Amino acid sequence: MKLGIIGYGNMGESFAKALKKHAQIVIYDVSQNKREKALQEGFGTAKDMGFLLESSQWLLLAVKPKDVAEVLTKLKDNLEDRILISLVAGLSLSKIEEMCESSRVIRLMPNINALVGKATIALAFGKGIKEEERKTFKELFSNCGSLYELEEPLFDVFTALAGSGPAFAFKFIHALALGGVREGLSYELAKSIAIDMLLGSCYLLKEKGGNPEEWVLKVASPGGTTIEGIKVLEEKSFSGIVMECISKTSEKSKKLL
Ligand SMILES: NC(=O)c1ccc[n+]([C@@H]2O[C@H](COP(=O)([O-])OP(=O)(O)OC[C@H]3O[C@@H](n4cnc5c(N)ncnc54)[C@H](OP(=O)(O)O)[C@@H]3O)[C@@H](O)[C@H]2O)c1
Repeated sequence: MKLGIIGYGNMGESFAKALKKHAQIVIYDVSQNKREKALQEGFGTAKDMGFLLESSQWLLLAVKPKDVAEVLTKLKDNLEDRILISLVAGLSLSKIEEMCESSRVIRLMPNINALVGKATIALAFGKGIKEEERKTFKELFSNCGSLYELEEPLFDVFTALAGSGPAFAFKFIHALALGGVREGLSYELAKSIAIDMLLGSCYLLKEKGGNPEEWVLKVASPGGTTIEGIKVLEEKSFSGIVMECISKTSEKSKKLL
């Protein structure tokens, strides 16, 4: 696949690197420094949008929301049957379709974990994307992380769970590490233990399946140590706090559109 990437910032660079072995990639960024960086990192670069269009059948739009109108104004008359993939937060399929006057568009919502090739990505196809192209797209972009095809109204809760989710996960790791410090560990050691414990728990749940609550009961033996900690989480309404956190974040995402 010939993929042109517009914008070589956090997301453009992360996706380019994850897809490097699987697609012919050409990068265009307004900044000459960024184009030189892309060149040094082994990518073809385009000096302007015209050259990028000549070398690409698929285009990945990876600029900030404020720069989208400018890019799409330049692109829309020359898109022909190219497919435009947008990862611009909050920009709906219908809005992208209206701006580029094409329904050959794909909307993605990645998260910051793209920086290490482990993004959790929501995806919605425009009407103009054929079945075969959907398959090709999924095969290629699964190299960037896990893909979840969703109805667009569910993008808000996805934004809360997966987009903002890493921030909540980092808060949890920090809190665990502070708990370790309180009991005598150094912060760095406690943080490292917390990260490894969470990684292992996630692998276990993914590999073995089942509901998290079943695994809670496997860890918490009757009258043991774990149930003492669980009692505190229950008393302080841990699940309620986290559910409220997801709802508030999702509501805010809805209001931004
Ligand atoms: N970062 C995240 O965690 C995240 C998560 C989900 C979705 N997103 C979405 O991903 C998109 C990119 O975010 P980002 O964090 O990667 O932004 P970024 O680091 O600012 O990268 C955007 C790049 O595009 C360049 N650019 C600006 N105008 C351009 C134009 N007209 N043509 C070509 N390149 C242009 C920018 O150059 P200058 O710096 O010189 O302006 C910059 O290098 C955003 O729309 C955001 O909503 C990001």
